[in-house]
Amino acid sequence: MFGKDYKKYFLLDDNIININNGSFSSVHNDVYKKSEKIRFDIMSNISKFKMEADEHIAKSQSILGKYINTNPNNIAFTSSTTESLNAVLRSIIFMAGDEIVVDADIYPTTMRILEFVCGRAGARINKVHIPINSDENTVLDKYDLAINPRTRLLVVEDIKAIDGLKNPLKKIIPIFKDMDIPILVDGAHSVGMIDLNVDELGVDWYLGCCHKWLLSAKGAGFIVTEPHNHSMMRSMRISYTYEKPYPHRFHWVGTNDYTPWLTIGLGIDVINELGQENISNYCNDLVIQAGKLMSKEFGVDYSIPSSLSTYMTVVKLPKKLQDKKIGVEKLQEIFFNNGFNTKIVLIDNVKYIRISAYIYNDITDYEKFCDVVSKLCDNKLI
Ligand SMILES: Cc1ncc(COP(=O)(O)O)c(C=O)c1O
Repeated sequence: MFGKDYKKYFLLDDNIININNGSFSSVHNDVYKKSEKIRFDIMSNISKFKMEADEHIAKSQSILGKYINTNPNNIAFTSSTTESLNAVLRSIIFMAGDEIVVDADIYPTTMRILEFVCGRAGARINKVHIPINSDENTVLDKYDLAINPRTRLLVVEDIKAIDGLKNPLKKIIPIFKDMDIPILVDGAHSVGMIDLNVDELGVDWYLGCCHKWLLSAKGAGFIVTEPHNHSMMRSMRISYTYEKPYPHRFHWVGTNDYTPWLTIGLGIDVINELGQENISNYCNDLVIQAGKLMSKEFGVDYSIPSSLSTYMTVVKLPKKLQDKKIGVEKLQEIFFNNGFNTKIVLIDNVKYIRISAYIYNDITDYEKFCDVVSKLCDNKLI
């Protein structure tokens, strides 16, 4: 059902193999076609759409609220997780001396936003260094030790961008909640990949997007804000709706394309039709199979705790590519020129590839990639 035969259902250029769905998830044909129809209907009568916009947006809030289990009134839509991160972190008023606890290897955009808000306020980023493949107790100890009386916020990823592993979120959260420290969770990769019950997590903000693993059109970011924080939330795009209560003040941003928010249900329909469990089983198995195959070919160790595994994993690149003076960007460019969309990451100055497995991938994609790596190691590509 999945794999090579399923590739035709995605807008995928025949000349490229996408083993990096995590960064740039491929678009499903059904969602694409139906979203073009929605866009056409909006564009052909924008005044009508404006009059009905609240109703359409409320429907999408309700669909997403049901999917991630939260009250639709807690959900504000944005264009991306990046915008959601900006909106939350720039709505909080930090004071000089405040500290924000964060994984030192957090998604680089998040670190840049933190540098901005902390720099402006005279606050400090307290970076937690968590070695790759740390066991759960080490992770929890590191977070516990980072707390001090100045700690004002925890920013943590549900699924980590750096290595694709799940964070032990349900155990990290109580450490901070017990100290009354607010928590912001970045779930950019969670929605559509793992069972998500936002209300059960009970964090102050849970944000993410539907355009990665939930198959919606690009441009569907969201923020879930607990009711006690609604009034302090500010949109990155202040408009004449500014004085409306949260989340409405986020939703009318002038001449914008509102289509992506209205496609959230379309992505969920495709997933439901295929079966969330079928997708999970296929992707979870394939990613481990690919990780094992690649690590064997590259001559490196590979041990990922299966309980934290997702549709993404990291494999250390072969020693020969570590020794060479080729940077991360250059490597990605070489792989791209040889037909692969990849994500190379540096962990403790060691180069890894973060691979994704999705329903249009199969093991031959990773076998072909190993051939390219082997040629590169033998200097046959540069
Ligand atoms: C953890 C994390 N947060 C945020 C983002 C940015 O997501 P978006 O493209 O929706 O802004 C990414 C992108 O891959 C990510 O990995």
